[in-house]
Amino acid sequence: MTSPAPAPALTQDELKAQVGLAALDYVVKGEIVGVGTGSTVNKFIDALATLKTQIRGAVSSSVASTERLQALGIPVFDSNEVEELAVYIDGADEIDGRGYMIKGGGAALTREKIVAAQSRRFVCIADSSKLVNTLGAFPLPVEVIPMATQRVIRQFARLGGQAQVRRKDGAPLVTDNGQHIVDVTGLRITDPLGFETEVNQWPGVITVGVFARQRASVCLLGTSSGVRTMR
Ligand code: 5RP
Repeated sequence: MTSPAPAPALTQDELKAQVGLAALDYVVKGEIVGVGTGSTVNKFIDALATLKTQIRGAVSSSVASTERLQALGIPVFDSNEVEELAVYIDGADEIDGRGYMIKGGGAALTREKIVAAQSRRFVCIADSSKLVNTLGAFPLPVEVIPMATQRVIRQFARLGGQAQVRRKDGAPLVTDNGQHIVDVTGLRITDPLGFETEVNQWPGVITVGVFARQRASVCLLGTSSGVRTMR
């Protein structure tokens, strides 16, 4: 007798859709939900539209997410209008077993950290390729005031990192906050809390893409055998 063929592996896009849908279980009915940015979050936003009559709306972490939410008829509140959110749902570029993350691949890290900070719970949604033992293989995004980029690049060189200003269409990328992004390779971030604290103090740095203080309390990891919940 031949054994049944193994289930086909899911694509990365399907894994993202899987965790986007699973995150609906963490949305608190009757409340405003914090919404992150990125392709995984886009899957969540699309799924959230099915619950839109059961929530008050969202606080968004980027212009892109705001536009997607509004296009689906989900009201978007300014973060200053809301004191505290029950839950923030967002993706990650890397996450470790403790819930520490690198974020900012979509250049939205500053607003993401703000909304995460006003939320009681951070639910990270990610496909399994994002799980790492040590943060740093993904180029670390840092949002920087333009006049400080070269100085910040030199400071990273002293830590052994190679940094460059992110470009788009032949010019430095400009974030939703009117600032630039420096991406840093060559780092191995073994102490995310200490690293975040240090880099945050450098003049000109607005936000470093290490999320240690705002780490994930839950991670829904998409795998070919289903959603794995890490706490
Ligand atoms: C945007 C982010 C995203 O959460 C991160 O880049 C993951 O994106 P994706 O879901 O597209 O892989 O931090 O600034």
